[in-house]
Amino acid sequence: MPDTPISTAAVALLPAIREIVGERGLITDPADTAPYAEDWRKLYRGRTPAVIRPANTEEISAVIRLCGQAKIPLVPQGGNTSMVGGASPMEDGSEFILALSRLNRVRDIDSLDMTMTLEAGVTLKAAQNAALEAGCMLPLSISSEGTAQIGGVLATNAGGNNTVRYGNARDLVLGLEVVLADGEIWNGLRRLRKDNTGYCLRQLFVGSEGTLGVITAAVLKLAPRARETAVALCAVADATAALDLFGRFQAHDAAAIQAFEFLSGAGVDLVLRVIPGAVLPFARPAPAYALVELATSRPDAGLRASLEKILEAALADGVVTDAAIAESEAQRGAIWKLREEHSEAQKRAGASVKNDISVPVSKVAELIRRATVACEKLIPGVRAMPFGHMGDGNIHFNLVQPEGADPTWFLAQDHALMEVVNAVVRDLDGSFSAEHGIGRLKPYLMVDWRGGAELAVMQRIKQALDPHGIFNPGRVLP
Ligand code: MLT
Ligand code: ZN
Repeated sequence: MPDTPISTAAVALLPAIREIVGERGLITDPADTAPYAEDWRKLYRGRTPAVIRPANTEEISAVIRLCGQAKIPLVPQGGNTSMVGGASPMEDGSEFILALSRLNRVRDIDSLDMTMTLEAGVTLKAAQNAALEAGCMLPLSISSEGTAQIGGVLATNAGGNNTVRYGNARDLVLGLEVVLADGEIWNGLRRLRKDNTGYCLRQLFVGSEGTLGVITAAVLKLAPRARETAVALCAVADATAALDLFGRFQAHDAAAIQAFEFLSGAGVDLVLRVIPGAVLPFARPAPAYALVELATSRPDAGLRASLEKILEAALADGVVTDAAIAESEAQRGAIWKLREEHSEAQKRAGASVKNDISVPVSKVAELIRRATVACEKLIPGVRAMPFGHMGDGNIHFNLVQPEGADPTWFLAQDHALMEVVNAVVRDLDGSFSAEHGIGRLKPYLMVDWRGGAELAVMQRIKQALDPHGIFNPGRVLP
């Protein structure tokens, strides 16, 4: 733990903040603030003078006004599931954490408008369940959905498993409520499908990672609830075969694809080894797998029959070597478990370096092949476990430390590994930051990747909306 003192200017503000949020809304004991100051991956162990937990938007506004006047920075935090340290305070104790978890009401669901109005601290899982109860579906699904909160999901423009069909979080947002740097509340909670009145402000805050304003509530678009779902795990020789299979599903009925995920054999082996209850539905392991989920809200669509037909042809052509179709909800869960436990399994296997990258879908197999060769050349024995959203071109090119290697040494290789992976990504016209965001981990890459006019415009926007730099300073922009 660093020995620099906690910011005295911030501490001096605490009585006034306590006045606003009350005793229940303020955590100052270091033992209690510590879990908020450490990220899920345990890459950042920061310090904070206090975790501020306001009960509503008005309290947030008053806190921000105060911090703005005193120029004390705030780190907005939802479920603290960031993969890039985006919600972690600095080590010098200069930043408050602004926790949104008490704003946890679903305010309204309208099944004719197909919209849901909810507060930032509602977990994604709770939002999904509320939509299902109303006969609709919130079509956003990520591995951390049980903990991740709507505010963070929107602030990071989360993607996840259903992007192939419904787009990213950004594509589901119709309206937002945001507290600005001077404490003013912008109520843009509109439910309109068409609204061309000036600049689209809400899209500025979505994906800004808490650097432009604090999202306190949102209106999200819902989709019709699925009447029929069909899920299969397919054993394949490599990513090229998986991509071939994706093309077949796309040619047959692109609109039915709800998720198309790639899994490396090494990644699945690791899940089977370290995650209790994980089971492979095949007699023997394969070099790679594709997980496909089809869904439709149409009655009598015959999804199961089309899934079987496509898989039979793919088996006959040698594109797929084995396939397991879920026969029950439990089997569907078991197949998805092999996918969703990837991050947890890799965390248990020691240090890992994540590359959350995207390329045009047609280039995903080439990306995996070339990046694997490059990393193995740099660090012999490194375990490449690429997985993720093949159907939208976003792969988590994660690298687990060589068996028995020193985790601290391996983590120190992160920039070198990211560099060789990103060289391939750049060559394939991709992005080094697909869905996790930039956070504290990657602002240094922005100059090289988004230099010139693009970065200059971003800096002007930041200056205009947050002139004193109180929102998540040092994240996103260098
Ligand atoms: C996921 O899709 O499971 C996460 O975004 C990936 C990760 O852990 O890198
Ligand atoms: Zn992902």
